[in-house]
Amino acid sequence: MAEQSLSYKQLLNKVRTNLAPSLAEDWPELPAVRAEGVYLYTEDGREYMDFTSGIGVTNLGHNHPKVLNAAIEQMKKFSHSAVGITLHEPLLRLTEVLPKVMPEGMDMFFFGNSGSEAVEGALKMARYVSGRPGIIAFTGGFHGRTYGAVSVTSVKSKYRKHYEPLVPGIYFADFANPYRCPIGDTPEKAVAWSVASIEKIFNHYIQPTEVAAMIVEPVQGEGGYIFPPVEFLKELRRICDEHGIFLIFDEVQSGFGRTGEMFAAQTYDVRPDIMAVAKGIANGFPLSATVASRDIMSRWLPGAHGTTFGGNPVACAAALAVQEVMKEENVLENSRKMGTIFLDGLKKIQTSYPFIGDVRGKGLMVALEIVKPDGSKNPDPDKAMAILQKALDHGLVGYMAGPTGQVIRLIPPLVVTKEQINKALEILEVSMGEV
Ligand SMILES: Cc1ncc(COP(=O)(O)O)c(C=O)c1O
Repeated sequence: MAEQSLSYKQLLNKVRTNLAPSLAEDWPELPAVRAEGVYLYTEDGREYMDFTSGIGVTNLGHNHPKVLNAAIEQMKKFSHSAVGITLHEPLLRLTEVLPKVMPEGMDMFFFGNSGSEAVEGALKMARYVSGRPGIIAFTGGFHGRTYGAVSVTSVKSKYRKHYEPLVPGIYFADFANPYRCPIGDTPEKAVAWSVASIEKIFNHYIQPTEVAAMIVEPVQGEGGYIFPPVEFLKELRRICDEHGIFLIFDEVQSGFGRTGEMFAAQTYDVRPDIMAVAKGIANGFPLSATVASRDIMSRWLPGAHGTTFGGNPVACAAALAVQEVMKEENVLENSRKMGTIFLDGLKKIQTSYPFIGDVRGKGLMVALEIVKPDGSKNPDPDKAMAILQKALDHGLVGYMAGPTGQVIRLIPPLVVTKEQINKALEILEVSMGEV
């Protein structure tokens, strides 16, 4: 067949005609041929340090041999099981392994394939179990692209454009952003501002007894790597407890070691009722989970939700290997240690470049916010992109975030070494100097 004989180079020329433009605008579209550990290799023979981890997925590095081997061994047995028609050992074993590393009480699972699906499951279950219609989400949040997930998403209005009417019953409160709070940039004010916006919803739009759940990313990811003060999440816990509302943590991006603990819920020491997890769970194999306590999830009755591919045996086998590797290689400790070195290095670079408005991070969830250097804090997405492009030219792949793309996020695999972090710092410093 002629199409089988096209070279990779020829196929790359067809990206714009063959792939939906809804995603094809993305950057940098590297033509990968191979990936190993922290490195990506492209069709034109170049080597890049991958400080995106495929957007927070390959936390153990690309092609980790143990994960790969677990997947291959499972593939030799069978590679599909529609849960319910057949069961399989990796799935059931995972339900025993994950509760040991998840926040307390997270012991029942619905497995899906993507972060969006995990969010859909969380929203549907919260409504189903509570019998209440309302959902509170937070401005600037990102929860995915399926209808329920995009309905609670507000990072960019273009993600919602032409899709109205979205799922009804959703109300937006303000996320506590200590870098950009309208009443003053202190943690206390950011928390007070957010809590007041929740009270406004309760007073004017929907009574708390009608609210099924609050859904929040404990650290906003696509929204710009915004780390709220711990009191913000504690206040959400308090308000939810007071009114019998489920607190959903969307840890699709912050989970599986990214913030230095297995989950941000543990980094912040705040307990959710329901979680959505995905990305790093299987280091690149498609798997996600809606998770809750047995008390909550067992009230989601047969027929209420389902899946054909969710809990795929190969992905579950990979996820089990991920958990083994995380222990064997002290991945959480490395995330914390390398995160500190990285953050310190970036703070040092910040002293020379007034356009770096903020440097922030926990573990290896690290970001720089790029602003106009005139004290206004006005975002400068063009400069952020110019820095990313220069860094790419020097062999480092980072990625943008934030409502205008003004944030540079740097999320290397959690197994990154000190030498690799220092190399990335060197490239970033050179790139800043060049823009
Ligand atoms: C916090 C959060 N939730 C949900 C999603 C959606 O995940 P997916 O793209 O796998 O559907 C993402 C993806 O970036 C995310 O960061």
